[in-house]
Amino acid sequence: MDFKYETARLISESCGVEISEILGAIEIPKADMGDYAFPCFRLAKVFRKAPPLIAAEIAGNIKLSEHIERFEVVGGYINFFVNKTSFARNIIDNILEKGGEYVKTDIGGGRTVCIDYSSPNIAKPFHIGHLRSTVIGNSLYRIYDAMGYKPFGINHLGDWGTQFGKLICAYKRWGKKEDIEEKGISELTRLYVKFHTEAENEPSLNDEARAYLVKMQNGDEDAISLWKWFVDISMKEFERVYNMLDIKFDAYTGESFYNDMMPAVVEEIKRKGILKESDGAQVVDLEEYNMPPCLILRRDGGTLYPTRDITAALYRKKTYDFVKCLYVTAIDQKLHFAQWFKVLELMGYDWAAEELVHIPFGLVNLGAEGKLSTRSGHVVLMEDVLREAVDKTEKIIDEKNPELENKREIAAQVGIGAVIFDDMFNSRIKNIAFDWNKILNFEGETGPYVQYTHARACSVIRKAGLESAPKNADYGLVSDKSSLALIKALGELPAKVIEAGEKFEPFIISRQLIEICQSFNRFYRDNSVLGSEGEVRKARLALVYAAKTAIKEGLYLLGIKAPERM
Ligand code: ARG
Repeated sequence: MDFKYETARLISESCGVEISEILGAIEIPKADMGDYAFPCFRLAKVFRKAPPLIAAEIAGNIKLSEHIERFEVVGGYINFFVNKTSFARNIIDNILEKGGEYVKTDIGGGRTVCIDYSSPNIAKPFHIGHLRSTVIGNSLYRIYDAMGYKPFGINHLGDWGTQFGKLICAYKRWGKKEDIEEKGISELTRLYVKFHTEAENEPSLNDEARAYLVKMQNGDEDAISLWKWFVDISMKEFERVYNMLDIKFDAYTGESFYNDMMPAVVEEIKRKGILKESDGAQVVDLEEYNMPPCLILRRDGGTLYPTRDITAALYRKKTYDFVKCLYVTAIDQKLHFAQWFKVLELMGYDWAAEELVHIPFGLVNLGAEGKLSTRSGHVVLMEDVLREAVDKTEKIIDEKNPELENKREIAAQVGIGAVIFDDMFNSRIKNIAFDWNKILNFEGETGPYVQYTHARACSVIRKAGLESAPKNADYGLVSDKSSLALIKALGELPAKVIEAGEKFEPFIISRQLIEICQSFNRFYRDNSVLGSEGEVRKARLALVYAAKTAIKEGLYLLGIKAPERM
């Protein structure tokens, strides 16, 4: 039973306007004004009357149902009041019956959505900027799954390009195998940086690097095995971070995966008459669309970042037959995506404009210098941030709950969860000011606060000796104001999941979780659960159980664990 829909149905029956047209106009009024409200001015065009007159006319014809028990006309609004018992029963029973699955829908009908996210660069640091792509992409993956789509997660690793010629050159001159094995990416980065400083005095190094790149392109065994080794070394580090975050991908098809397919694509662009020469390079002119030209081939014939993305998109469309392909990267790549999306359109692929979506996000400002530890100069490594989050959380747990079992594991779930939650607490496009005090505050609008509320609900259930969800409770006994506010917040979560998916905005779920947790804590303050008896206790426990289930599921959708004790 969807009470909003039921309200729309009653209005539609009384005035003859389609339910679908009314549904979108229904509002949730401020406390005590009712549960749903219909602003009658929305029908002014149909009725050609002043809203209060429309309200009176509709109200005169409304036939109440067992779910909506009363209404009031206030000015141009009709405010509806649900039958509290039926409302509570519908929402709570649905959650108790389906568990976390209660947020699932079948909007996607099993269709595929590709999500290109995280995608760090081989031999370069996995830095805090990649954190955002990783956690937002992972959350979208889970949200689309809940909406009945078949999500397909792709890690488009930056594993090909001119930097590898330079790296091989630097390794041959100054590198040591043992150092790389011991220090991993930081040593590879050091060599890469050294290449650039040395090349300033010795420009011939650039020719040497180019020669190595050509060797790689021609499949030279020595060059390829070094390249593979750099990839392996880097992947080991990336995997460590993915394990900390509990994130997996369906495919690790990096840029190099498309090497063999690119000549045909370049040929196709040429055949379609949009490739032209510019300074020796091959480009697609986009002046007409107010964008700089999209680079397809370098002067030496090498391919570029856009060439690889165009080829990858064609491959994905053919292989996965997606209805959408999402690219989660920082806002600074906006132009890059706009350019090559346009090239595909000019090639005659009409789906590109509709189905390829860039999902940009804002920067992470690290705030006061020194707040985050760094290992290698100015870049802040993701692994360091996550480690620090865990360490800091462990200290907090040591103070608050020194007896806790599995302290390190729970500190990991809470610390990392805190970083993830903070990342998705606002609209993606907003910059983030990284602030440990804010992120780890157990009382603020934070991950730890949500997890703590969940653990609190678990503790109530444990103390009550409840093994499974209570059945057939009398929901007339949870109709006080704060219980109802909680029930309402729980009932709204499924619609918020859909909204988050449609807008590609996980923060809509974080906000709803905060709403649920604040309502839970008010409910718990106003109503004694363990101290009550009989049917009242049973009904309140059912509500606690439903809240615990919903919070856990909401956290899951954000990619955050829900420990039962903390
Ligand atoms: N490797 C790129 C970077 O670190 C991100 C790749 C995003 N995905 C894509 N298909 N272009 O900036």
